[in-house]
Amino acid sequence: MMKHIVGFAGSNSRTSINKQLVKYTLEQFDGITGELLDLNDFSLPLFGVDLEREIGYPEPAKKFLKKLQAADGIVISLAEHNGAYTAVFKNLFDWMSRIDRKLFNDIPMLLMATSTGARGGASVLAMASDRFPRHNANIVAKFSLPSFNENFSEESIKNKDLDEQLKVEVAKLEEALK
Ligand SMILES: Cc1cc2nc3c(=O)[nH]c(=O)nc-3n(C[C@H](O)[C@H](O)[C@H](O)COP(=O)(O)O)c2cc1C
Repeated sequence: MMKHIVGFAGSNSRTSINKQLVKYTLEQFDGITGELLDLNDFSLPLFGVDLEREIGYPEPAKKFLKKLQAADGIVISLAEHNGAYTAVFKNLFDWMSRIDRKLFNDIPMLLMATSTGARGGASVLAMASDRFPRHNANIVAKFSLPSFNENFSEESIKNKDLDEQLKVEVAKLEEALK
């Protein structure tokens, strides 16, 4: 059976640079099936404990979690808004954490971030690196792509060193899938 990798960007931008990075990254794996999810297809109300009491868990959160937990590997690229998760990702994360606190299920993960800035989403990457393992994330590889507009074009990473770095991280996730 081919291994199945689920990838998504922590963004709801229709032109998300993080989604472009995830798409490119999924193409770097050999012999896997890759599934690129879009948070826009999992529209959720704003999490609140009162709403949770009233409606329980919304279907899109359950559906997203199910897809995540059915994967052999996970590729995430987080967009950074004001040094943190985007609202849309945090909201999904909060809902999923209520359904299952250990939501990442020890599934090997490549955790990434990119931004238009020179720090490449370093703050959100650090935040997630600290937090996700508390929800049983098994982060086996990490990558940050700085200055997206300078380093990425025509659906691939133009900077050779950065492209090489990504491939090293991809190999780590491939190894973890064996
Ligand atoms: C509200 C807002 C806050 C932002 N804050 C940051 C930031 O803290 N650090 C950063 O590097 N880029 C920041 N940016 C720029 C994003 O990196 C850029 O919009 C990027 O395209 C977001 O990723 P996405 O296209 O995948 O949504 C911000 C953008 C917005 C709209």
